[in-house]
Amino acid sequence: MRKTETMSKVPHHIAIVMDGNGRWAKARFLPRVAGHKQGVDALRRCAKACQARGVRVLTVFAFSSENWARPQDEVSGLMELFGQALVREVPDLNSQGVQLRIVGSREGLSDKLLAALEQAQVQTAANRELVFNVCFNYGGRWDIAHAAAQLASRGEAITPQSLNDALALSHVPDPDLLIRTGGEMRISNFLLWQCAYSELFFTPVLWPEFDDTTLDAAIAAYAKRERRFGQTSEQVAPPIAQAGSAGSAQPAMARA
Ligand code: FPP
Repeated sequence: MRKTETMSKVPHHIAIVMDGNGRWAKARFLPRVAGHKQGVDALRRCAKACQARGVRVLTVFAFSSENWARPQDEVSGLMELFGQALVREVPDLNSQGVQLRIVGSREGLSDKLLAALEQAQVQTAANRELVFNVCFNYGGRWDIAHAAAQLASRGEAITPQSLNDALALSHVPDPDLLIRTGGEMRISNFLLWQCAYSELFFTPVLWPEFDDTTLDAAIAAYAKRERRFGQTSEQVAPPIAQAGSAGSAQPAMARA
């Protein structure tokens, strides 16, 4: 068996752009926030399903740096929903061993929301079964600029490794699989640095309707891909005699 085929078929880290809440609501003559509310339910199901399949890191895009430009009632609805979800979900997350990390800029968030997210992180910090990163007030460009500014302020050299270590997701390896729902085929300023070698999966399914079937389809598509990380097919698939030792062709920086 080729080396790539001996590697785990389940992605260690799945990242998701949860798109389509607005269209789901519009099709039902509901306000957009009702779609986001359903989106929270879909997210709860998805986190459980990922954990059941052996995924160890889940990262979702809940509110982008650019989402502030949406209608005011939608922005405040998302803030409200997030604050409520943080308080409500923590007991369940704890019982499932999920460590919650809120990733993104704290600028512009209310004191109440800041307190809720700090508390949720502290309460789940010791959990080890699944790292659940919720990117909120996050943008890939913000992340890279922020990391570079941190290095500059400390007088440190900017190298791929030092920048990588200063980014918001330095506590986890890069995503193996990036899923985007809702039919659009773009990254939309999500994990620009971290998705350099992620496998991409796009589905027309709207986020509130994302279920186990679609998750399994994404994982099955991922399992068929050959990950080369810039190398050749021959390099990542060594002779059969050496194939016993499973490993990753992913560069050390991304897998550290
Ligand atoms: C994009 O769909 C979705 C968002 C901007 C918000 C994503 C949020 C959730 C799934 C709920 C979880 C939220 C929190 C706060 C934990 P869209 O509204 O752009 O959909 P559309 O393209 O159909 O308009």
